Amino acid sequence: MRKLHVFDTTLRDGEQSLPGTLRPEVKLEIARQLVRLGVDVIEAGFPASSPGDMQAVQAIAADVRGVVVCGLTRAVRTDIDKAWEALKRAESPRIHTGIATSPIHMQYKLRKSPDQVLEMAVDAVSYAKRYVSDVEFYAEDATRSDLEFLKRVVSAVIKAGATVINIPDTVGYATPWQFEEMILRLRQEVPELDRVTISVHCHNDLGMATANTLAGIRAGATQVEGTINGIGERAGNAALEEVIMAVYAHRGAYDVRLDVNTREIGTTSRLVAERTGVPVPNYKPVVGANAYSHASGIHQDGVLKKPDTYEIMRPETIGMGRSKIVLTSRSGRHALRARLQQLGYDVQADRLDTLYERFLELADARGLVDDGDLVQLVQGV
Ligand code: KIV
Ligand code: ZN
Repeated sequence: MRKLHVFDTTLRDGEQSLPGTLRPEVKLEIARQLVRLGVDVIEAGFPASSPGDMQAVQAIAADVRGVVVCGLTRAVRTDIDKAWEALKRAESPRIHTGIATSPIHMQYKLRKSPDQVLEMAVDAVSYAKRYVSDVEFYAEDATRSDLEFLKRVVSAVIKAGATVINIPDTVGYATPWQFEEMILRLRQEVPELDRVTISVHCHNDLGMATANTLAGIRAGATQVEGTINGIGERAGNAALEEVIMAVYAHRGAYDVRLDVNTREIGTTSRLVAERTGVPVPNYKPVVGANAYSHASGIHQDGVLKKPDTYEIMRPETIGMGRSKIVLTSRSGRHALRARLQQLGYDVQADRLDTLYERFLELADARGLVDDGDLVQLVQGV
């Protein structure tokens, strides 16, 4: 099985979207948790962007072990010098350099011709190779690039020494079918890609970042990039917890192996939410507060008999506590009785009917019925 490398960019793509920056000690705290989670690469920041980020990347590089520490740069030599300055104490440093390859970015943003962009890309990779053996190249806005030009750039930067090729869907424009096709064609038509790692980096503007990332894996990518809780530019990046659990839930369907400790996902998600101040929505897949909560009587009956009836993954696997049965007027007798048993009341069938009627009256009036309400109800009956 191919090893699937997990590249976390919470501290770079995630952080750059926040209204405020994260202090170096906070970035270090998150990086340490990412190590416990078992990611393979931590993109710690963009060292040339500010002295604070330089300091944060330096602190992470000097501290964490057993993981690649990566710094982002533009295809500019001074950025690369700064990245090396930040990364030199890392056990396994990686420089992540690149440039936009789409017509719209080249013409309006960079104001460069395709040939100039190609030259800058090759120069950046060759220059980064003077410092580190592990150089990742990103072709920004790859999914809106001309495929023939993208192939030329990818082939040239691999010849210049790039070890990882990142194909980003920078603006979240691709669909899974297009993205899979694009990676497959690149693999077929750029033979040099066989000797490097192909990485996918998807944004969520159309809500397809996770799906596109999975399509990339199907097409042969062996590195996935994303952030915890999906934070990131605009609508965010692919949420790593979703990608990881999708691969985990469908293990067998993808020919890949993951070395992540899924039980650390819950803690990592909570830490990132607290430190960034970006709360996790209740209905967020995998880590939302409601993700393992069962409300309808039909579902509750099923889950109490066999959790797999309504749970495709167990909250314990993700470190998200236990499944919850919430008692509302949509709940059934089975759920009420089970909760009463947990509270120490073994209610017989004849009394359950009366209790259930009173419970429904209360639930219709109140919404959620908690344990205190239940105790009062039983004592009243
Ligand atoms: O979305 C993107 O293209 C990026 C690159 C800098 C990798 O974040
Ligand atoms: Zn990005």
